[in-house]
Order: sequence, then C-alpha cells, then structure tokens
Amino acid sequence: MSQFEPILAAFACEYCAYTAADMAGALRLSYPPNLRVIRVPCTGKVDTLHLMRALQRGADGVLVAGCLEGDCHFINGNLRAKKRVEYVGRLLDDIGIGGGRVLMVHMAAGQGARFAELAAEFTEHIRSLGPNPIKLKTGKAA
Ligand code: FES
Repeated sequence: MSQFEPILAAFACEYCAYTAADMAGALRLSYPPNLRVIRVPCTGKVDTLHLMRALQRGADGVLVAGCLEGDCHFINGNLRAKKRVEYVGRLLDDIGIGGGRVLMVHMAAGQGARFAELAAEFTEHIRSLGPNPIKLKTGKAA
C-alpha cells in the first residue's frame, strides 16, 4: 500500500509567513511539497468559510500562518484569525472531522527555517491523521 500524501492549504500573510516561505526557498531549505501556499494580505482576511471551503475542496489540513502576536500590520488581524481557527477546530471536532486538521502559527519574515520546519511537522501530523473524511465521501481533490 502506498503512503498517504496529504494535500495541505496554507494561508500565509504576505508580511511574514509568505516572505518566510520565500526565504526558505532562497536558503534552499527543503520542506514537503504537500503545502499549497496561498498569499493573503493579512491572516485577518481569512474567514472561517475559507478554512471550511479548503477542506470541502479536498485539503487534508489547513495551516494559517500570520505575523507574531503584537506585530500584525493591521493591529489584530492575526488574533482574529487565531480565534477563527480555534472556532473551526471545535466545529471539526463536533462533526467528527478532527480539529487537528487546522492550525494557526505565528512567525516573522526572517524565519525561513521555522517555516520549513513547520511545513514538515504539519505534513507529518496530517499524515498521521489520515485523509480528510470529507474527501473520501465526495472524492474531491484540491
Ligand atoms: Fe500579518 Fe496581519 S499583517 S497577520
């Protein structure tokens, strides 16, 4: 049996995580190619519907990567995103999908190594959870 390769969506703030992802590439740090990075102007723009939609469309896990707490360029967008991710996590637990499929992380633009490390850790975490049950029911792939 072949190993399950998760498909992951990562909403990355352009001021920090997206730049960190870029830096990881520039430093030639390798991380799993499972992550589809979606650039957003601030994680505060990521709505609960975006998270749910990504899962509905076939992602096995969703990462939201924003600026460090206190460093959001829009004051508290990252804190709002954190609350939304926690809310979706509880919702996913309630419906049996598993709240561990969504994760909020914070980082600075210069943390390319941390981005690569998180990408690897989240990929392994989702691999351990197995495929998104919604995808199994609908046959959808991201
Ligand atoms: Fe980066 Fe708000 S500007 S999370």
